[in-house]
Amino acid sequence: MVDLEALISKMSLEEKVLQLLQTTGELYNPDESGKLMGNMFGIEIDDYMAWNAGSVLGLEGAEAAIRLQNEHMEKSAHKIPLMFMHDVIHGYRTIFPAPLALACSWQPELAEKASLIAAKEASAAGTHVTFAPMADLSRDARWGRVIESFGEDVMLNSLFSEASVRGFQGDDPKEKDQLAACVKHFAGYGMAEGGRDYNTTEISENALREYHLPTYKAALNAGSKMVMTAFNALNGVPCTGNKWLFGDILRGEWEFDGVVISDCTAIGELVLHGFADDNDEAALKALKAGVDIEMVSTTYYRGVKSLIEQGLLSEDEIDTAVMRVLQFKETLGLFDNPHKGADPKLEEQLLLCREHRDAARNIATECMVLLKNESVLPLRKSDKKIAIVGNYADNKDILDIWRCTGKPEDCISVAEGLQGKLEFNAINGCSDEALELVRASDVIILAIGETPEMSAEAGSRASIELPEEEKRFTESVLQLGKQVIAVVFAGRPMDLGMLNEKANAILYVWFPGTEGGNAIADILLGEKEPSGRLTISFPVSTGQCPIYYNALPTGRPTESLEESTRFRTGYVDAPTFPRYPFGYGLTYTDFTYSAAELSKDTLCKGESITASITLANTGKRPGTEVVQLYIRDMAGSVSRPIRELKDFTRVKLNVGEKRAISFEITEEMLRFYTLSGEYKSEPGRFKVFIGENAHCENSAEFRLFI
Ligand code: GLC
Repeated sequence: MVDLEALISKMSLEEKVLQLLQTTGELYNPDESGKLMGNMFGIEIDDYMAWNAGSVLGLEGAEAAIRLQNEHMEKSAHKIPLMFMHDVIHGYRTIFPAPLALACSWQPELAEKASLIAAKEASAAGTHVTFAPMADLSRDARWGRVIESFGEDVMLNSLFSEASVRGFQGDDPKEKDQLAACVKHFAGYGMAEGGRDYNTTEISENALREYHLPTYKAALNAGSKMVMTAFNALNGVPCTGNKWLFGDILRGEWEFDGVVISDCTAIGELVLHGFADDNDEAALKALKAGVDIEMVSTTYYRGVKSLIEQGLLSEDEIDTAVMRVLQFKETLGLFDNPHKGADPKLEEQLLLCREHRDAARNIATECMVLLKNESVLPLRKSDKKIAIVGNYADNKDILDIWRCTGKPEDCISVAEGLQGKLEFNAINGCSDEALELVRASDVIILAIGETPEMSAEAGSRASIELPEEEKRFTESVLQLGKQVIAVVFAGRPMDLGMLNEKANAILYVWFPGTEGGNAIADILLGEKEPSGRLTISFPVSTGQCPIYYNALPTGRPTESLEESTRFRTGYVDAPTFPRYPFGYGLTYTDFTYSAAELSKDTLCKGESITASITLANTGKRPGTEVVQLYIRDMAGSVSRPIRELKDFTRVKLNVGEKRAISFEITEEMLRFYTLSGEYKSEPGRFKVFIGENAHCENSAEFRLFI
């Protein structure tokens, strides 16, 4: 155990502040003269800064990590090991489905498994900390980063965030094959106005506590070692300088004493926010808010000395931040073993190994969502001529932007996945030649979607339609009267236009990861049953954004799902409800529900009500249903959502099989942030819904007595 107090006492102010600097990996690629790059995101970094920084972003590979750590330990003043941090979001080299896709499995254990494998690969490659999970709740399909979120529901988001932390960190991030997690972006980043990335957010404290904070807290409860600030201003105060958020909530109420890191250059951006007059004031506000590490900018390094000389900051406050960083390094075991899990041989064995690929394939099949199927899937072997066309027909670039070290050449395309299992002709693209092939075929697998660059960070779109070329090509294909199976790659819910009405089947695969093509083939051929369910609502059109299932009813609610009537909340030119609701997804069979029943119609504190249905598989194939329990609080001291997901269970039934399904409803499940800001339940009427998605009407009522 290193005496960290003694270590800090020996450090100069400059050396302390450099522990708070995070540089980037490419900075250390010396030029032919051996001089370091010297420039990072346009910021001048000299050798002294580079060799005494506290951590490095984005370094890849065990050999590079070992080499850099050795050189750093040799050149740094106090032999304090570097921390290597990276965006290992949903895989390191073996890439799993993007987080929004993972969430559509409704199986947090799959996120845990994916994170565990990602940690094994990344730690062998020299990474110590990952910038994940992203816990931002998202409701606006225009926002590019919905793909990195787990969707619009706070309960599911929380389950997936904590599962991800468990997977990354295991029981102890000091273990060689584990990563420390960093929950991000604190807080409310997904509420960017207009779905425009980095845009401002206005979130009431009640809404923040009800829908957003619980998911970050879930990650911290699971042990996340670090928290990253969000780029956005929250109610006018940028998160990266927000003392209420990081002081009162995070370090006060939640007693988090770990490290806070800014997002990339976010401290300097406080000036651009109009929240700081210059970089020194930005540094002061971030430090006062409790932000420890400055990611790839140098306002701390360049400003702290004068802030202390002006009496605006004390060296003790710097020592507090430095202590947290050194304690983090101690927690990771870096003082004992600066290389931690870095192991070139193990890296070579693990990355893309068969076991990891198989896991990526199996998990991907659980994340795909069947939106439509007019009995054309699963594909049956027949003498029909099959064509695969569209920009994803034989395209290996099926990873979203947060692909870490994943490479398209590692990936399996749609055509490669079906090769040898089906007779088909494939032309990648939307060319006239592809259309000619469609004309000469009977069954069309139309593999289309967004490019990876159309989503993720800074990937917001003002239209959520198919890209123009694919929209035109799709319409041409659909006019030919063939049997069309659409396989859609996307980083968001899209307005699929004519496909919704005219395609015979739609399989939404998101960005499915390295094994995407094999997983798609498994589903199309019926080797695996589709069981994914949406965790984000699909708007009918961009004009409906943002749209989410747990909205407030308004004083003029639109009752029917189909039509919007005048003088009810809705549009004169579009439906009020989404195309596909939260919780929606088809299987290859059919399920029926008996009427929802309650064990009693009154509930008191300390008691529970059993809500039950009987589920039957009335179709021709086995299948998995995600039975969902929603509750509506009919009246409260604040207006309450039209329903809220409170529980769910995945049920696999064989043909003809029936099963009784029950849920326990307790008073605790009914608590919310009331008008007074207390978190408690209020007496009154409640409606219980048990069904297949957020639009289910299978309901029963009870009354709560306090
Ligand atoms: C980016 C992202 C953040 C990521 C960080 C490091 O700007 O906002 O999610 O972890 O920078 O790459």
